[in-house]
Amino acid sequence: MEDKTTRNLVLRNLAGKRTSAVPIWLMRQAGRYLPEYRKIRRAAGSFLDLCYSPELAAEITLQPVRRFGFDAAILFSDILVIPDALGQHVTFEEGLGPVLEPITPLNPMLPNALDRFRNSSQNKLGAVYETIERVANAKTDNCALIGFAGGPWTVATYMVEGGSSRDFQKIRRWATSDATSFELLIDVLTEATIIHLNAQINAGVEALQIFESHAGVLDCFGFNKWVIKPTRRIVSTIKRKHPHIPIIGFPRGAAAQIPVFLSETNVDAVSLDHSVSLNWAASVISDSVPIQGNLDPIYLLGDPGKLPFHVDRVLSAFSNRPYVFNLGHGVIKETDPRSVERLVDIVRNYNLR
Ligand code: CP3
Repeated sequence: MEDKTTRNLVLRNLAGKRTSAVPIWLMRQAGRYLPEYRKIRRAAGSFLDLCYSPELAAEITLQPVRRFGFDAAILFSDILVIPDALGQHVTFEEGLGPVLEPITPLNPMLPNALDRFRNSSQNKLGAVYETIERVANAKTDNCALIGFAGGPWTVATYMVEGGSSRDFQKIRRWATSDATSFELLIDVLTEATIIHLNAQINAGVEALQIFESHAGVLDCFGFNKWVIKPTRRIVSTIKRKHPHIPIIGFPRGAAAQIPVFLSETNVDAVSLDHSVSLNWAASVISDSVPIQGNLDPIYLLGDPGKLPFHVDRVLSAFSNRPYVFNLGHGVIKETDPRSVERLVDIVRNYNLR
């Protein structure tokens, strides 16, 4: 009998089965490049309020699916709901991005943080799980619902730097000069991430992505300690309860460490950023591993006539393996929605060849 996994193109590819039609979804497919998002965003007040309003967040999750017919919906939320639920002060400011009251080795915010988090999963984060239930009820089977979290290292960068950073000096100094206390922070984040992802699965997500967006600032020693090890613990703990939920890793900037990331963490699939060479990836990553990515989102702002060429390059590199089309990073906010429509069209037409 056909189950949901065999009907859904994204889930089929993530389960390691190549399909003749290539599925497509985009990181940051919901967001400021869409007028229908900006309208709700203006009415909602703060960004976090929006993340904790199930009705609005469910609507925003579905907006790009309705407009473009993507094969997956990604939960509308943020990686920084975890520090918020741990009790750190988090806001999103216009033009600045996230602003957090930074934690330091002397003031690491750790005592009782996980207790606060567990309370929060029943309260604040309960709204995120309700969003998932709403989307799961509203979507069709051919659209997969993807849940997510940031990788502990990436979330920690925001918590320690107090927001986005250019050189990540504070966190790199802490991690290298006092690894023992830094590890306590990573452990708390790893635990909170496991709780949050399990709750997302219980609410109805069908796949998970772990965004390790700042993996690229670590050397190989740090990458092993702060990215590979926590990811392995997250994957193995979730797999014990939910062996059939595919987990996609996105170790952005990991470059030549991608093969060791794959073999050591046991993620099911890897999302490649656009710095990764297509030929290199196709030759060093086993054909049985599903790949996602990696068109540079900048092409959506460039000459529309050149888009088919660049999409074709990516599609042909991964034509013999399980594969999900995506960008190498999120949709840029200046993107014209018509470019995204064109992109979906190109990928769909490729399917017909
Ligand atoms: O459509 C989707 O991808 C789902 C929702 C989603 C958001 N953030 C919504 C969002 C997802 C999956 C994320 C992940 C996220 N958040 C990451 C990892 C992916 C990546 O981009 O590397 C990171 C690092 C964050 C942290 C974050 N959130 C930053 C740095 C910012 C400000 C900069 C920016 O790009 O806007 C945000 C804000 C944010 N998250 C917005 C949205 C739609 C914009 C908020 C607004 O409306 O002002």
